[in-house]
Amino acid sequence: MKRTLESLDKGSLEGRRALVRVDFNCPIKDGVVTDDTRIRAALPTIKYLRDRGARLVLLSHLGRPKKGPEPKYSMQPIVRALEKLLGAPVSFLSDPTSADAVTTIKRLPRGGVALAENTRFFAGEEENEAGLAEKFAALGDLYVNDAFGSAHRAHASTEAIGRILKPAVSGFLMERELRYLGEALHQPKRPFVAVLGGAKISGKIDLIDALLPKVDQILLGGAMACTFFAAMGLETGKSLVEAERLDLARDLMQKAGKKLVLPSGAVIARELAPDAETRSVKRDHIPGGWAVYDIDAETEESFGVIIERAGTVVWNGPMGVFETPPFDHGTLAVAQAMARATANGAVTVIGGGDSAAAVAQAGLADKITHVSTGGGASLEFLEGKELPGVAALDNV
Ligand code: 3PG
Repeated sequence: MKRTLESLDKGSLEGRRALVRVDFNCPIKDGVVTDDTRIRAALPTIKYLRDRGARLVLLSHLGRPKKGPEPKYSMQPIVRALEKLLGAPVSFLSDPTSADAVTTIKRLPRGGVALAENTRFFAGEEENEAGLAEKFAALGDLYVNDAFGSAHRAHASTEAIGRILKPAVSGFLMERELRYLGEALHQPKRPFVAVLGGAKISGKIDLIDALLPKVDQILLGGAMACTFFAAMGLETGKSLVEAERLDLARDLMQKAGKKLVLPSGAVIARELAPDAETRSVKRDHIPGGWAVYDIDAETEESFGVIIERAGTVVWNGPMGVFETPPFDHGTLAVAQAMARATANGAVTVIGGGDSAAAVAQAGLADKITHVSTGGGASLEFLEGKELPGVAALDNV
């Protein structure tokens, strides 16, 4: 168990500088944040600290700048989005490693907030260098990690700093993510069903391996189902098949037995285009020259029944080419089934990324028990891996 923000003596926060690692890696277009979900998700922690008179220094990365600062990855648009959400000014620290930054923080009023420039602009961040972590640490009296989405990265602002600046505690979002994902995995209400999708099995092997002994059923969709079809000796036409993974798919099918449920049919097209001619076919009737782009209505129905009867459902990865309608249909159908399962009393958890985007698009996010803000992080957590950003925090 990790020490939480709430465990700190409330009075002790007054006037103290809280260095908070958040994950504000949000999509930005023309200098404007287009989806502020991750910023809103960190507000409970920010509000709690402000209300208790702490002075806040927020650290986050944005995108994947190659070498040093790149203007398109500046945190400045995030400052504006955060100011809007807080209804309060936010100071910008263009160089959080400078002596000026230390002075700016000392001058912040109680409850004041500063946001630092992209941590990945500074040498040593991705190398997890203690030297950089020490410079960040000079900005705070305590460390709060609320960046679940970055917890699988051992970077200076997520890992090294947690070992240097004490106390090092989890924020409310981090706590919530670990609780829901952890409970689903370790104390699931049964039946426990995993719904897995996405393009390739290569990225999901560890996940399938880790989930198989825990779950009652795995429903598998997305293009990766085609690799299983091919492993069964079925014609897959022009579908995406990982030829070098056929043996692996056979092994997984054998190991999983009846636990693994594959789509019974697919929506196919000759090309991936919104106006392409489509057909629904059984999985053993995929013609040459056509490719699988979604699960079919019958699979939507059968997956839906299993999901609705589950006690716990964990979902990671779309069922089809979600970004190109009409091939989003199967993914949206799973989102709806998840919402119905929640209404039936199931614990439903969505592991970030495209599945989270699908429930948001379907307007169903508030009908899911927990939608994770971390794509890669929730995947690694569900694979049973230790997240370095969590490991570095104080134990209770
Ligand atoms: C994410 O968007 O998954 C996190 O912010 C981590 O980003 P990264 O994959 O660039 O480390």
